Amino acid sequence: MKFGIIGAGRIGKIHAGNVAARKDCAVTFIADADAAAASNLAAATGGKVASIEDILASSEVEAVAICAPTDMHADLIERSARAGKAIFCEKPIDLDAERIARTLEIVKSSGATLMVGFNRRFDPNFAAVQRRIQDGVIGALEMVSITSRDPSPPPVSYIARSGGLFRDMMIHDFDMARFLLGEEPVSISAMGSALVDKAIGEAGDVDTAVVIMETKSGKVAQISNSRRATYGYDQRIEAHGSKGMIQAGNIKETTVEFAGADGFASDKVLNFFLERYASAYRSELDAFVEAVKSGRRPNPDGEDGLKANRLADAAYLSWKTQKRVTLA
Ligand SMILES: NC(=O)c1ccc[n+]([C@@H]2O[C@H](COP(=O)([O-])OP(=O)(O)OC[C@H]3O[C@@H](n4cnc5c(N)ncnc54)[C@H](O)[C@@H]3O)[C@@H](O)[C@H]2O)c1
Repeated sequence: MKFGIIGAGRIGKIHAGNVAARKDCAVTFIADADAAAASNLAAATGGKVASIEDILASSEVEAVAICAPTDMHADLIERSARAGKAIFCEKPIDLDAERIARTLEIVKSSGATLMVGFNRRFDPNFAAVQRRIQDGVIGALEMVSITSRDPSPPPVSYIARSGGLFRDMMIHDFDMARFLLGEEPVSISAMGSALVDKAIGEAGDVDTAVVIMETKSGKVAQISNSRRATYGYDQRIEAHGSKGMIQAGNIKETTVEFAGADGFASDKVLNFFLERYASAYRSELDAFVEAVKSGRRPNPDGEDGLKANRLADAAYLSWKTQKRVTLA
């Protein structure tokens, strides 16, 4: 399967590398506004530098990986769908739910395949937790807890363009909550502050937040987010049910542990998403390729992107108004 990669930044490099590593796929073209970023990635993956227009017009290109900034995603999805490409798009689809809904209509009417980059579903440990919940290992699921803390905050310039904590960062956790609950949340409460970087607060966002959600049947989920974790990228999930508890913890740099008179000491957890989710990104691509080849609905798809976005909107509203928000 021949890919056009749009965006050769942090995540574009990961996806292009994974495409190039597959025997049945190739990076054909790479587009980026930064010519050096595009040509470096082209050299590393065997692709050629091209414009977005060239990628979409090329009959060689079967699939696009949209790895450009968030505010370009919806437009690129629509153009790619109209051009007959299979589409892998990074999260979030857009910051505006109504725009996402319109984009999904275009995807639907064009018959294009669209998968959204909620990579954490493909983390082997998190995926195993979800499978075991489905298999009934903890009986009837009652509670889900998700902890997700970045090692350090992004520059404040990133906040506005990315959509802020709820729509850019916690969006992964909303998807994870839906994935684990197997049911849609119907009410949500959010609290948050800017405790890590005052400038984030001045930009109208939070860097420390907790969300609690409830489903129609009464299952509850809580998400804890911070833009700071001194010990690395803190990524943990837990589910509790009538027959027990199941959890997946952090992955450390090494398994080495020192024991002495003052106690035990081990390494920090893996630093950030590129390291922590390296295998998840590979499996995510596998799932996309499999969906395109088989013609089956990709999982997660555009609807999952929209639903996670609606939860992020509701959380933002709850935080802003200091009220619990009910979802339709
Ligand atoms: N799923 C994940 O774990 C994950 C991780 C990081 C980022 N993301 C998402 O991926 C997207 C990109 O994030 P990133 O961290 O890689 O950003 P980045 O800034 O590192 O890379 C974005 C790239 O897009 C290029 N670009 C900007 N404007 C362009 C234009 N008009 N035409 C072509 N190229 C253009 C930039 O030059 C840059 O190389 C964001 O939507 C983000 O939310 C997802």
